[in-house]
Amino acid sequence: MFSARQLTVSGARNFSSSAATAYKVAVLGAGGGIGQPLSLLMKLNHDVTDLRLYDIRGAPGVGADVSHIDTNSVVKGYGPESDGLSKALKDVDVVLVPAGMPRKPGMTRDDLFNTNASIVRDLAKAIADNAPKALVGIISNPVNSTVPIVAEVFKSKGVYDPKRLFGITTLDTLRANRFIAEVTSSDPTKENVPVVGGHSGVTIVPLISQTSHPDISGETLDKLTHRIQFGGDEVVQAKDGAGSATLSMAQAAARFGSSLLKGLKGESPVEPAYIDSPLYKSEGVDFFASFVTLGKSGVEKVHEVGKVSDYEAKLIETSKETLKGNIAKGVKFVAENP
Ligand code: NAD
Ligand code: LMR
Repeated sequence: MFSARQLTVSGARNFSSSAATAYKVAVLGAGGGIGQPLSLLMKLNHDVTDLRLYDIRGAPGVGADVSHIDTNSVVKGYGPESDGLSKALKDVDVVLVPAGMPRKPGMTRDDLFNTNASIVRDLAKAIADNAPKALVGIISNPVNSTVPIVAEVFKSKGVYDPKRLFGITTLDTLRANRFIAEVTSSDPTKENVPVVGGHSGVTIVPLISQTSHPDISGETLDKLTHRIQFGGDEVVQAKDGAGSATLSMAQAAARFGSSLLKGLKGESPVEPAYIDSPLYKSEGVDFFASFVTLGKSGVEKVHEVGKVSDYEAKLIETSKETLKGNIAKGVKFVAENP
């Protein structure tokens, strides 16, 4: 006998017209500070019918908990035993990866490299083996380097498609929208500040000249730009050793994950993301964040950075120089530690 829920899910898969909204999503690192609220938010997403939660600890509990929410998806939590990672990933459409250590006060994101590089490399191998066609969103820091790590692993496995790999930089845009609204007394929900470059300190470049507040200048512009670039530090300091942004990040990743699913459905949402980008490849910068249009195969269009002020042009130059080193570090890590 089938339950009503099973019938709904399997029924949806049997009709090609409804199959487009029956998506399988995996969260890797689902037991953590980001992973738990992100799992909750993906459970609330009606495009998801099959939610797989994996962590080296705690995921079955998180899975059992969110599985009681009365949305139309099945949820299962997996641990590392009994090949749980492969089961969690088998043929999923979207993978979101918040696995790995967060910062403590006094650390940069790059200080997380030694711990998180191998975690992300190993998860990338499992994704390549079990869900080679999935759209993959990387949250684990340092994003500027972990995304190139995933790319190198996928290349070594012969499954690399640059259109399907994303570093999730949505939180930078959320912060920029919020912070510019505080400066201008505007409605943050009406803002959409372009933030380009990467996801750490000086690599984060908000393009205030392209917003509806291009006149922000002088000390106000310096302070706003600095706050957007170093917004993560505010949370790390306030949490005082207990980690970094988790709730705002879960919201950011849920928005990005939702847009990936909308793209798969044939809509064309536009989101910021750190991707294998053509924009500055000729200058040796292989990955760069900008707005991208999402579609059925992932990235459909990479938006140009567009006209920027002299102030922003200088910030972009600094970002590119730093990114080159961050990217090379990820590539070297996989070459030396395959
Ligand atoms: P956390 O410590 O609360 O959770 C991390 C989880 O990863 C833990 O549950 C841990 O068990 C799990 N984990 C460790 N190794 C694993 C493995 N091999 N496989 C599966 N799971 C594994 O940390 P958090 O606050 O959730 O942050 C997670 C990561 O996200 C950090 O690296 C942090 O810096 C990063 N982050 C990125 C952004 C962004 O904007 N991209 C924002 C905030 C945090
Ligand atoms: C953030 O921007 O909040 C994250 O990258 C976490 C951090 O270390 O600041």
